[in-house]
Amino acid sequence: MRMVDIIEKKRDGQALTNEEIEFFINAYTSGEIPDYQASSLAMAIFFQDMNDQERAALTMAMVNSGDVIDLSAINGIKVDKHSTGGVGDTTTLVLAPLVASVGVPVAKMSGRGLGHTGGTIDKLESVEGFHVEISEDKFVELVNEAKVAVIGQTGNLTPADKKLYGLRDVTGTVNSIPLIASSIMSKKIAAGADAIVLDVKTGNGAFMKTIEDAEALAHAMVSIGNNVGRNTMAIISDMSQPLGNAIGNALEVKEAIETLKGQGPKDLTELVMTLGSQMVVVGGKAKDLEEARALLEKAIEDGSALESFRTFLENQDGDGSVVDDVSKLPQARFQIDLLSQKSGTVTEIIANEIGVASMMLGAGRQTKEDDIDLSVGIVLHKKVGDSVDEGEALLTIHSNREQINDVKEKLNQSITISSHGEVPTLIHKIITE
Ligand code: URA
Ligand code: CA
Repeated sequence: MRMVDIIEKKRDGQALTNEEIEFFINAYTSGEIPDYQASSLAMAIFFQDMNDQERAALTMAMVNSGDVIDLSAINGIKVDKHSTGGVGDTTTLVLAPLVASVGVPVAKMSGRGLGHTGGTIDKLESVEGFHVEISEDKFVELVNEAKVAVIGQTGNLTPADKKLYGLRDVTGTVNSIPLIASSIMSKKIAAGADAIVLDVKTGNGAFMKTIEDAEALAHAMVSIGNNVGRNTMAIISDMSQPLGNAIGNALEVKEAIETLKGQGPKDLTELVMTLGSQMVVVGGKAKDLEEARALLEKAIEDGSALESFRTFLENQDGDGSVVDDVSKLPQARFQIDLLSQKSGTVTEIIANEIGVASMMLGAGRQTKEDDIDLSVGIVLHKKVGDSVDEGEALLTIHSNREQINDVKEKLNQSITISSHGEVPTLIHKIITE
């Protein structure tokens, strides 16, 4: 097989065979195919697209390019959730113990990553003692016993995706539905998921700015999943404003605890219930979304969801008593309110810009080597659609530096107050095939 023939075939709009796709991925990963040919093929895919069979073949070729985590020692259907990213997205912290409390095993492998706040692991490390450096045997044992555990990234997962994503980043080929969908799905499948629930975000704080684009990506991922034998569902949810009220690491852990107690922000709670219901259905613990939701509501009401979080933290050497006393979480030295300069209704809170402000406080990483400050961040008191009086607090800034005019200025530029605004639709669509 010659790479140039594969490039020309795709350039001319023909479908590639499974063998051609496997040849490309294997030879590119091993270094036999140079970057210039791989980028040429990526550009051809960008313009000519791929059919469902090609997308499934590309995904599985990338899965098989490295280690595949074997979770077969864990009983039950392992459901993984993936969010395409956003600002102040606290859902994993709530979902993991919540669905575990109704018997769906959550075997989460997580990374740190770059962003406005840390990743799930960073957030959890704001609980004294908690760590993810556990052996794979211990991980399996904990999930079988308590239904939930988190382990740091292990193994050499999807090296083909790593290499190709890096190349796409500098060749104008990131924004291609078949390439994004196969990239995301390959990582989930290599991490051992039997079933996958996807939260595809849309809005200015998201990768996909419009509902149409988000829907196309969701459909692509759902059909890849189902074509390769992983039950997959997706929702399209709003990320025009931050999710929930807290943006920051310890602040989001506190918000997660409140949500597990049934006292969380309305939007975060609704998103968690929607995603959680899907996880319970694909996990085989309820026959439909309605029955699943009732199970989850009961787990919050009777305290079992909160107990599941406590046990999970303690199993990984964390101080579980934070669920009773959130003041044990790291606290920033200064808490400074941002006051509204006029009366009216909040019409816009630009998610991305709020994320940048939390980054300026030190909540996130710009490069892999950066330290993050777990205590800092932002807590919103008003969301889009809320009315506000002049001089009322829009939000509180949690900071370890006293001088924060730069952050205040950024925040003032990111929030619009006008005569009328509506609460945005949180869940645009549910996609099951
Ligand atoms: N995120 C991924 O993991 N892959 C892509 O291609 C785009 C976003
Ligand atoms: Ca939040």
